[in-house]
Amino acid sequence: MKTRSIARTGVALLSVAALAALWSGNIAAQSPLPSAGTKTYADMTVGFIQTGSESGWRAANTASFKETADQLGINLKFYDAQGKLENQVSAFHQFNQDPSVNVIILAALDVTGYDDVLKEAQANGKVVVLEDRRIDADPSLYYTYIGSDFDLEGQKVAAAMCDLLKDSPSKNVAEISGAVGASAAIDRAKGFREKMGDCGITIPDGLSQTGNWGVPESKAVMEAFLKKTTDIQGVFAHNDEEAIGAIQAIQEAGLVPGKDIKVIGVDATADGFKYMIDGTLNADIECNPLLAPQVYEAALAALNGDTSLPKWVPSQEGQFFAAQGADALNAILATRKY
Ligand code: AHR
Repeated sequence: MKTRSIARTGVALLSVAALAALWSGNIAAQSPLPSAGTKTYADMTVGFIQTGSESGWRAANTASFKETADQLGINLKFYDAQGKLENQVSAFHQFNQDPSVNVIILAALDVTGYDDVLKEAQANGKVVVLEDRRIDADPSLYYTYIGSDFDLEGQKVAAAMCDLLKDSPSKNVAEISGAVGASAAIDRAKGFREKMGDCGITIPDGLSQTGNWGVPESKAVMEAFLKKTTDIQGVFAHNDEEAIGAIQAIQEAGLVPGKDIKVIGVDATADGFKYMIDGTLNADIECNPLLAPQVYEAALAALNGDTSLPKWVPSQEGQFFAAQGADALNAILATRKY
């Protein structure tokens, strides 16, 4: 089956009001799922709305959906929103209007902004599955959400940082957060703050800022933090690219990342492993991007009228430490797909 990428910017943007006008009628709580008769993956045409291509994690997530669609014979219409919420909303509307599309999968850039297109999808009998990122919407407007417990990831970072700083009299941690509005960033920040008090960690004022998931911006943020103060004992970076940016800035400031300043990232991509192996990254909390098989399976279940799935299926994830040693980490790295 052919996977078609639809990367069109400047798609005619329909105002939310126009979308609302387009859709009229009562919202039945989770409109009845498509009629019976066992559907197979060959019957599935998926409109997939990706966030963009902001990180190594995102590239692995996209590959998971494209490769698995090919393997299962699913007709995949892939849309890259290039980091713009308005692009996601207009692509969602396009897929709602596309009679060939029976499943819509969304990796949400933001926690809000999708209500109108979700209601439109419901009115048009589309199965909607959220992957990777949760949203603040009425759960009756989507079939299920398959993705990480980002709050728990943040708690894991706090626990690891507490261990790394156990002998440090001062526990000032700088935070390089993910993109503003993203559930991954909101929940990781919340989880870290829920646990940091266990060992007296604080995030001093002015030492928390977004790095927008990227290396160069995170490097600049860390440079600015170090200009403000060098009384920093740890860095909580919301993904591996942000950790790498912080590591570069720490090195250029003549300090030793992993020693003078402890650094913890999230994702555990191959790059994250490389920095753990050379000791500049102390720990990496896994966020699993290989979600496609589970998501497609859930969508097929929905197409066949199965209503037994919970509204959230959390991903299974681990954590890794430089202290495991280069040999052990290299052995693990050799077994990983991302
Ligand atoms: O939603 C998961 C996050 O999105 C990853 O941690 C980050 O790398 C990606 O941009």
